[in-house]
Amino acid sequence: MPREWLHAWLGWMVVAAGIAGIGLSAYRTWEVSQPVPFTHKKHVDFGISCDACHVGAKDSAKAGIPNTSTCALCHQPDKPGLKTPKTLEEYIRQMREIPWKKVYTVPQHVRFSHKRHVGSGGLDCKVCHGDVGKMDRPVARQTVPLRMEGCMACHRREKITTDCMACHR
Ligand code: HEC
Ligand code: HEC
Ligand code: HEC
Ligand code: HEC
Ligand code: HEC
Repeated sequence: MPREWLHAWLGWMVVAAGIAGIGLSAYRTWEVSQPVPFTHKKHVDFGISCDACHVGAKDSAKAGIPNTSTCALCHQPDKPGLKTPKTLEEYIRQMREIPWKKVYTVPQHVRFSHKRHVGSGGLDCKVCHGDVGKMDRPVARQTVPLRMEGCMACHRREKITTDCMACHR
């Protein structure tokens, strides 16, 4: 498909979504409530690094969320020691995955890779997610709005491509 058509098509998507009342935008202004009262602060203060839990953050497209068996490495319901909230204890006993609600997510038509930004780009997580390590409640909303203008502003500043097709498929 010629490039100009694609640009026009992307433009029409905005109009169509507007009419249909569908939010194509990735910026979530509302708060979600998470199933377990997770605290980043306690874990980061304990010395666990971001990519020990978000194992894909440096070398994959997706950062990933740790699964229940990872939590169970330290939170063992039958052993005294670490404080473990009742809700988490239940998930661990049944070895069920915790249904975390995603806060940062790009639509299907957008390409984004952590590897490119954290790995080769050398960017700090804070630039795009705020100071997560200081949060003592679960991540419930986007501290840094996830918007196309945000991506574009940095790309322009850093002289990285702003070609539509670099970020859209
Ligand atoms: C650096 C990456 C990047 C580039 C370059 C880029 N976009 Fe986007 N675009 C995004 C992201 C991320 C989103 C989703 C976030 C949002 O909705 O703001 C998006 C969303 C959109 C949407 C959905 C509309 C909406 O606001 O809901 C359209 C249409 C779009 N882009 C068109 C374009 C066109 C046309 C170009 C070329 C002029 C372009 N984009 C270049 C990253 C990019
Ligand atoms: C490497 C060990 C380790 C792993 C893995 C781990 N935690 Fe923790 N967790 C801790 C430590 C240490 C604390 C602080 C305990 C304290 O203050 O008594 C803690 C505290 C917590 C608390 C707060 C408890 C309270 O009431 O103060 C929650 C909730 C929690 N963890 C959930 C999780 C979840 C969910 C996972 C898996 C995604 C997880 N943890 C993985 C070590 C770990
Ligand atoms: C250049 C901006 C940027 C940087 C830097 C960045 N992220 Fe992200 N992050 C995003 C975007 C955009 C998404 C949504 C991606 C998607 O839906 O595929 C996201 C999603 C996530 C998610 C949700 C789960 C997932 O797998 O998508 C986690 C967790 C996360 N990032 C952690 C991190 C950590 C940890 C770092 C630092 C090591 C980091 N991010 C650095 C932009 C960034
Ligand atoms: C002990 C494991 C652990 C560590 C260490 C950890 N995280 Fe997380 N992270 C989680 C869990 C579990 C969630 C899902 C619960 C929530 O949203 O608070 C999460 C959620 C997130 C999200 C929101 C994902 C989304 O889109 O829903 C971001 C962004 C994030 N972490 C970034 C970071 C950064 C940056 C660091 C280092 C400063 C870090 N995390 C350290 C376990 C961890
Ligand atoms: C704070 C700066 C910053 C922000 C914000 C940012 N980027 Fe980037 N982006 C970079 C840098 C730096 C590179 C080049 C990394 C490298 O050297 O490989 C890059 C590279 C890319 C590439 C690869 C481009 C190519 O040449 O193939 C894509 C695609 C991309 N970014 C998409 C996005 C999207 C989508 C967003 C928003 C969700 C975003 N970026 C937000 C700095 C940023």
